[in-house]
Amino acid sequence: MSRPSSVGIKAIEVYFPAQYVDQNDLEEFDKVSAGKYTVGLGQSKMGFCNDREDINSLCLTVVRRLMDRHNIKPEDIGRLEVGTETILDKSKSVKSVLMQLFEPFGCTDIEGVDSTNACYGGTAALFNAVSWVESSYYDGRMALVVAGDNAVYATGSARPTGGAGAVAMLIGPDAPIVFDQGLRASYMRHAYDFYKPDLNSEYPVVDGKLSIQCYLGALDNCYQKYCQKAQEKYSDKTISLASFGAVLFHSPYCKLVQKSFARLAFNDFLNSGNNSGISKYQGLDKFSNLKLEDTYFDRDVEKTFMTLSDDDFARKTKPSLLLANLVGNMYTPSVYSGLVSLLISRPIDQLAGTKVCVFSYGSGLASSMYSLTIAKDSSTKSDLEQLVSKLSYVIPQLESRRRVSPEEFTRVLEMREKNCHKAPYQPENSIADMFDGTYYLKSIDDKYRRTYEIVRKNK
Ligand code: ACO
Repeated sequence: MSRPSSVGIKAIEVYFPAQYVDQNDLEEFDKVSAGKYTVGLGQSKMGFCNDREDINSLCLTVVRRLMDRHNIKPEDIGRLEVGTETILDKSKSVKSVLMQLFEPFGCTDIEGVDSTNACYGGTAALFNAVSWVESSYYDGRMALVVAGDNAVYATGSARPTGGAGAVAMLIGPDAPIVFDQGLRASYMRHAYDFYKPDLNSEYPVVDGKLSIQCYLGALDNCYQKYCQKAQEKYSDKTISLASFGAVLFHSPYCKLVQKSFARLAFNDFLNSGNNSGISKYQGLDKFSNLKLEDTYFDRDVEKTFMTLSDDDFARKTKPSLLLANLVGNMYTPSVYSGLVSLLISRPIDQLAGTKVCVFSYGSGLASSMYSLTIAKDSSTKSDLEQLVSKLSYVIPQLESRRRVSPEEFTRVLEMREKNCHKAPYQPENSIADMFDGTYYLKSIDDKYRRTYEIVRKNK
């Protein structure tokens, strides 16, 4: 078999829970100043799971929905990869739970297990899937990548930056969204910025300020490395933000993404060397000799480059923050929810041919930058149309979610805390408001074995 070409994303599905807490309500409830979460963090709503959902159910739901919507048969899948940091079991993978969707059809020859490193696991899973499709082990079937998490924080300043959800992607050759081959930059280090050492709790230990510094440092390093590698690969080309029609970021909260976009504009400024001749850089000489690592919290740099890059941010990144703003930080799916948001934000003709830069970050820390090209030739454009048209459920479903009071939200989180890893356990929350087709936790028996059922509503 000849090696596949144009390997990329052939279909994508997003799932978020059917209830949310409004960030205005949460500001009032938490007695912080009005605007702290909505303006200061840039968040509007936060999705969350009650005791009917866990990482297994989130992933079962999103995979089942992707397969049903795109008419994918179990025998079409040769590799299934999961990225998550929501750990229910120290041994048994979420991937093995998902085999319930394949086994009944006699499909058990499916490679892949789980990848974990905070919000980066989905990207690690994706890279594995791409490598398989490009390898000698590829057998003509496609790969499925699932990123899912239930992102919850203890009470305090980090709580409004939670979220929950899952994204599934079908990976294969001749795709309408293609990975740029042979061009990726990574930055990996040992850091204690955010981690989950207490296996009896769903909450991370987080050093907020350090996590922001680590995120921005990883962004600078990945971008510099990506630019250097791209310039080596395409020797005639200088890479800058102008090289991309869209830039996607892992989104802990939307304000950090806006600052990150400005950070890339600052990188471009420094990379342009003697920049006094460039009109947009006039008056910025005082920043020319700064070192990236000295400026993570430099307000002057931040404000200047946010103003300078404001229009570009509005065009290239803001549309990709739709789900991040309305669901929150879903952890591993966050950056891929950015891709979904981008795809539903522009007409097909404007999407076609777009070069997309992707920055994925997971605390601890692991980060990568890579790029995608959205197809523009007529044969794959119809696949693109198909892929995008299948996302028409996203906005109506976002709008049909139930708004829950902060009191109820807090009660749900307290209940999850109390019952975390408890066995046997019978979930108490109602399934009445869940979306049709959602998997829910039916029970946990005295041997910690979980069973799931699917919500079926009469139409
Ligand atoms: N109106 C408008 N803006 C306001 C208001 C107000 N009333 N009140 C505060 N703000 C602004 C602040 O000035 C600040 O802006 P700045 O970021 O430009 O300085 C912003 O709102 C946040 O306020 P802080 O006081 O800095 O917030 P706090 O320190 O309480 O918490 C933090 C923020 C650290 C992000 C916390 O939510 C957290 O720890 N989150 C989890 C960690 C995280 O997401 N890290 C990012 C990368 S790692 C990852 O993805 C998990």
